[in-house]
Amino acid sequence: MPQPRVYLDWNATTPPVPEVVAAMAEAARDAWANPASVHSFGRSARARVEDAREAVAALVGRDPRDVVLTSGGTEANNLALRGAFSVEGGVLVTSRLEHPSVSRVAEALEREGRARVRWLRVRPEGVIDVEDLGRALSDGPVRLVAVQAVNHETGVVQPLAEVTRLAHAAGARLHVDAVQTFGRIDDVFAGADTLSLAAHKMRGPKSIGALVLRPGVAVAPVLLGGSQERGVRPGTVDPVAAAGLAVAARRARTSPGAWGRVAPLRDALQSALLRMAPGARVHGAASPRAPHVASVAFPGWSGPELVAALDLEGVAVSSGSACSAGTAEPSSVLLAMGDEEAARCSVRFSLGEDTTAGDIDHALAAVTRVLARR
Ligand SMILES: Cc1ncc(COP(=O)(O)O)c(C=O)c1O
Repeated sequence: MPQPRVYLDWNATTPPVPEVVAAMAEAARDAWANPASVHSFGRSARARVEDAREAVAALVGRDPRDVVLTSGGTEANNLALRGAFSVEGGVLVTSRLEHPSVSRVAEALEREGRARVRWLRVRPEGVIDVEDLGRALSDGPVRLVAVQAVNHETGVVQPLAEVTRLAHAAGARLHVDAVQTFGRIDDVFAGADTLSLAAHKMRGPKSIGALVLRPGVAVAPVLLGGSQERGVRPGTVDPVAAAGLAVAARRARTSPGAWGRVAPLRDALQSALLRMAPGARVHGAASPRAPHVASVAFPGWSGPELVAALDLEGVAVSSGSACSAGTAEPSSVLLAMGDEEAARCSVRFSLGEDTTAGDIDHALAAVTRVLARR
């Protein structure tokens, strides 16, 4: 009998819902033209792109004119940061909790002499230190504050209401990476001046996402080319991916309740893991967290080794963020939280709206077998 396969890596990506696949198949057949072409073929493709823009605008509560479609979260973050520092100089305030598509851009902007970066202190519970943000903002003018909504590794929700108040009181622009947020928890990003999202984290396709601007906020383009996306993001938008994004974005408006239902499963999983592995700990357990994530340290084990062993047992999880998975790099998020040992021995279990109690039982049985090998 084939072994059941359990997917507990929903923060890496989410399985597209059948409606997304159907919309993309239809668009691939009927709307494959260049959306910039003025003929009827082009207009069909254009309709899919504009529909996606409207769906994203409705999801975020903004105007479709302020939605810039991108190739995903990474590009949206690059555009938000680089687009704010096209004129050299000024201070960027951010933290090591951010996804590499923010933190590495910050490092590059500093190397290039475009920005001076003030790295915020991070509390051991996985949240930025808001008092330190206050200090950073009172040290002198700040051009941009970049703080994520929900952490990709721990699921910890950042104190965005406070961050927004402080950033705006100091006249700074606020960028929020909300890639791990949509469809999972209700809005925490209302005050963002620029905001990133990615379709594949909300049951849509890879390679499409958006940077949403507050009215009146401008970003300079990173790529140069045609006048697509008002020149802010040149390049032909894929109408097939856009068709998938439209469905995913509309669906994400109503799905946080479905994700909320997995909180008891996540809690049961993490309690059982803490009981079965001596010294195990859950990162960010004392902080507000998204309902579906448990990042757990297994002292004495290697995170990548556990991931590989669980995969052989049919359970898909990850160690570190998806982009550094497969490398032996310790997790930069856990390092930022000051837990050097955990940065190498942790596993992220991320559940999704389709996760069942049976999946959790299967995962726990697999962990038991793997841990018993020592
Ligand atoms: C918080 C966060 N930001 C940005 C990204 C990058 O998004 P994408 O994979 O669409 O480039 C990810 C992906 O893991 C993420 O978790």
